[in-house]
Amino acid sequence: MPDLAYVNGSIMPIEKATVSIEDRGYQFGDGVYEFIASYAGRLFMLEEHLDRLERSMGELAYAPISRSEIKTALGNLFEQAGYPRAGIYIQITRGVAPRNHAFASTLSPQIIMTIRPVKEMPADMRRKGARAITVQDTRWGRCDIKTVQLLSNSLAKQKALDSNCDDAIFVSDKGIVREGTSSNVFIVSGGTLTTHPLTAHILPGITRKAVLDICKATGRQAAESFFGTEALFGADEVFLTGTVTEVLPVVRIDDRSIGDGKVGPVSRHIFDLLRERALAGTSANPL
Ligand code: PDD
Repeated sequence: MPDLAYVNGSIMPIEKATVSIEDRGYQFGDGVYEFIASYAGRLFMLEEHLDRLERSMGELAYAPISRSEIKTALGNLFEQAGYPRAGIYIQITRGVAPRNHAFASTLSPQIIMTIRPVKEMPADMRRKGARAITVQDTRWGRCDIKTVQLLSNSLAKQKALDSNCDDAIFVSDKGIVREGTSSNVFIVSGGTLTTHPLTAHILPGITRKAVLDICKATGRQAAESFFGTEALFGADEVFLTGTVTEVLPVVRIDDRSIGDGKVGPVSRHIFDLLRERALAGTSANPL
């Protein structure tokens, strides 16, 4: 089965899919997206992803698209591809029109999706932990909207790889730790988890929410509050959360060891609980 694409109602092999060069997503970065993963044939936290997609579209005043239309398209694509562990990318742009900064009255949202098997994080990185660098957060002021404007994120990720590290963590000009290039950041200190509160400066991650839910369900202390680089470097454990990242321990940041430099027990436990939750959701109904 080839990796598939959905383009405004039609499904085709990815290499056959094309969009207009006058799509505002292409010319203005005027697009929003989601990335959803399945476990054992069932999409994990689908409704939460669709809630966030609708919110992103609403914040940018896109013409609404019904949830049932998106779900039907998603379901058809997922079924046709037949991957039990799929990664689905959904992108919606404001529409196609001759280039003009202002919105043309004729615009209507364009939907594309792609489906491929999830590219799992390397097992060695999961076992030994990842290395990260910190970078100044140069992104725009609405990082809570999941837009396709990911140039700062891409540059930071590439800088990390060029520095022989795995990822980068954005830090504000005042030293507040924000999030990763495609993940949220948690620190563990004295058994308590802390992550950045939901503001315009970070994405409200679905995995972040799942981890906070796990803490609530298991009686572990978790705080949504600001913390700086001192707390980051001094934490017992640091981990990143994201749809593909899941829960990824970070054992070295800017050439300093975190804790004893090894994957810690809290990160490992939360990872196990997240996987359990994802697999427990599997049932006959894929959506
Ligand atoms: N990115 N922060 C940023 C900047 C992100 O891009 C992402 C996810 C997250 C984690 O969100 P979630 O837990 O909902 O995946 C946080 C996706 C995976 C991507 O860009 O492909």
